Amino acid sequence: MTQSAHFATTLRTDLAGALRLSDVGRKVRLGGWVHRSRDLGGLLFLDLRDRGGLVQVSFDPRHVDAETLAAAAGVGVESVVWIEGEVVARPPDGVNPEMVSGEIEVRGATISVVGPAATPALPVARGRGEKLPAEELRLRHRYLDLRHPELQANLILRHRLLQATRNFLADIGFLEVETPILTKPTPEGARDYLVPSRVHEGEFFALPQSPQLYKQLLMVSGFDRYFQIARCFRDEDLRADRQPEFSQIDIEASFVAPEDILALTEALLGRLWSVAGVQIPATFPRMTYAEAMENYGSDRPDLRYDLTIRDVSASFAASDFAITRSALDAGGRVRGLRLPGAAVLSRKQVDELEVLAKGAGVGGLLRIKRVGGKLEGPIARFLDEEGGARLGLAEGELGLYVAAPDHLANPALDRVRQAAAELLGLVDSDRLAFLWVTDFPMFERDPGRGALSAMHHPFTAPRPEDAATLESEPTSARALAYDVVLNGTELGGGSIRIHDPQLQNRVFALLGMDEATASSRFGFLLEALRAGAPPHGGIALGFDRITMLLAGASSLRDVIAFPKTTAARALFEGAPSRVPEADLIDLHLALREVAHD
Ligand code: AMO
Repeated sequence: MTQSAHFATTLRTDLAGALRLSDVGRKVRLGGWVHRSRDLGGLLFLDLRDRGGLVQVSFDPRHVDAETLAAAAGVGVESVVWIEGEVVARPPDGVNPEMVSGEIEVRGATISVVGPAATPALPVARGRGEKLPAEELRLRHRYLDLRHPELQANLILRHRLLQATRNFLADIGFLEVETPILTKPTPEGARDYLVPSRVHEGEFFALPQSPQLYKQLLMVSGFDRYFQIARCFRDEDLRADRQPEFSQIDIEASFVAPEDILALTEALLGRLWSVAGVQIPATFPRMTYAEAMENYGSDRPDLRYDLTIRDVSASFAASDFAITRSALDAGGRVRGLRLPGAAVLSRKQVDELEVLAKGAGVGGLLRIKRVGGKLEGPIARFLDEEGGARLGLAEGELGLYVAAPDHLANPALDRVRQAAAELLGLVDSDRLAFLWVTDFPMFERDPGRGALSAMHHPFTAPRPEDAATLESEPTSARALAYDVVLNGTELGGGSIRIHDPQLQNRVFALLGMDEATASSRFGFLLEALRAGAPPHGGIALGFDRITMLLAGASSLRDVIAFPKTTAARALFEGAPSRVPEADLIDLHLALREVAHD
């Protein structure tokens, strides 16, 4: 809601787009951009645009002289003009219901151009559903693209969400504390952006991947409840829902159990969705990581549709079909999806699903369908009657199966599940399927090197019952970690942290860090934990992702004022860029030629 009165300045009386019927009869002086203009045989209409929206201004030969009319006719679109005139009600047949200010117009008396515009590199006035200009062009001329009402609305929504977050958290005792941008590397699984130090030759700061360690130190210092809308930097492969520079709603609290953080997050998300006028459930369903992987092949399943993965190994136990036989003998399983009504899919459609599965590393998709009561498909004849019945395929259903070890089958079936749901029209796009995934493993083992790495980050606490067996059964240890998921997108993740320095040292050791390495990388944390540390935990929510979903946008770029491209470039300002040799010398840096093949 625009508070129009606040926008009156010494130079203008009103925000143009905020004028309404109640303003009829007022003489106004407006400044804004010419959105479009139409000449109806001497009667000239300009749509004037400012942050408040659009208002129609008319220049009528019966009310203004020829000079004014010519001036109005000569203004190029996107120029900035001053307009003086009177607000008048439109006749009933002139009302434009598409325009918020459509019941009135401004009868222009004078017009002067204050900021003439060169021909815009991309059109700002776009019709509904009109194809967008190329992304690269939009980013290159971001100042123009940001004039578009849709992007203006997105950034205004973003502002409102930021304010709502701050108010919500401050009202319940959370303190907003800013943490450094020039910092020491924090492991969040991505590469760091490094900043060379001029003063300390050969040494580097890292831009924070998250304020993780600082927020833990604030708990040790006794601040009890912290939050920050934190800018994070990660040098990783980009996708539509990732940016190298992004914002988190970062939260940490002392003397808490997972339950407290889950309830707090549900309430905060409830508040944020209410900003967009949407009510969401007060609590979200929960699922353990093990259940999510078993049933959906993913730790962020989209629950807007039901399809669940089934283990059908028993159907193939007695079969001599080579593919399933060798997978089962090697300790793998046969798992898959039953797709209702999918027996009618063409071979090409199923082949396309198979391409997705193969892309995830499995050999292929086994297909069986039930048509006219009978099982059909190349492998149907390898099943005996009991095995066939155990598949549980109903009439018209298509079963798609993967015979592989779980670490390959899961990502393959996840992809197939998502694509099949789209193909079969099973996705209810009006549904909001929030979900908690809990009990993540503490560690993952690199299948190649065999080394352990932290599934979340190395400061995550194990479930108390798994702490004793961390060394003997590291990959079975579950963490007090949780992710919040919406419609298959990870909105946020967090955990209870280790506050016992000994336990923290054991985790560092399991991650292959000897004492000297642990102390040089995280000595300050260990020291702080030895200084009297309360139990604590928290979460970070991806603020850009939340805004993107609430704005109904399909890319983070549409909710960030100056985003980077998928190639991690800032196109408008042209960053990153080369720097003068003298700057490199000051920073004690020399560029090395690297051969690229
Ligand atoms: P995590 O790494 O899971 O946790 O990040 C939290 C949330 O941040 C968002 N996010 C991103 N958004 C846009 N672009 C990116 N490149 C990007 N990477 C992550 C996601 C994600 O769920 N310190 C921990 C939190 C904690 O333990 O409290 C952390 O950063 O929505």
